[in-house]
Amino acid sequence: MQTVESKPRKAKVAIGCDHAGFEMKEELKKFLLEAGYEYKDFGTHNSESTDYPIYGQAVAEAVASGECDRGIVICGTGIGISIAANKVPGVRAGACYNTDMARISREHNDTNVLALGARITAIPFAIDIVRVWLETEFSHGERHTRRIKEITEIENVKRET
Ligand code: RB5
Repeated sequence: MQTVESKPRKAKVAIGCDHAGFEMKEELKKFLLEAGYEYKDFGTHNSESTDYPIYGQAVAEAVASGECDRGIVICGTGIGISIAANKVPGVRAGACYNTDMARISREHNDTNVLALGARITAIPFAIDIVRVWLETEFSHGERHTRRIKEITEIENVKRET
């Protein structure tokens, strides 16, 4: 019997940034295209000053809704935009500054959004970080799965308004 080998579909990536991350976003889009990833660009579309929560939320909602499989967010440090993205239930955003962080954030934390700091990390290193992050799978280790479930339970705590 003949078998047809089908390659696994590559992740569809939501990408967004503030003004500080604009140049890095444009370079990462070139990398994503060359590497065969589909992406959706949530802005910003130039280097004029703007507010990172807008783009952190937009990318995070695209991932949380299932419209995109993974998200990449960029601001000056990766901190502000990761904080914003993490406010969307279901999102686990991690700011990564080297490939070890990127790999471990996938294996242990199952990050579904990667945050980068355009004023911290040079573009060639950011491309390496993105490559490793996209290629690394969650380990499915028992303790890691348990801890992620505990994180999700924090989202579900009923709070006084
Ligand atoms: C914008 O100047 C800068 O504050 C922002 O890109 C980011 O670094 C915030 O965390």
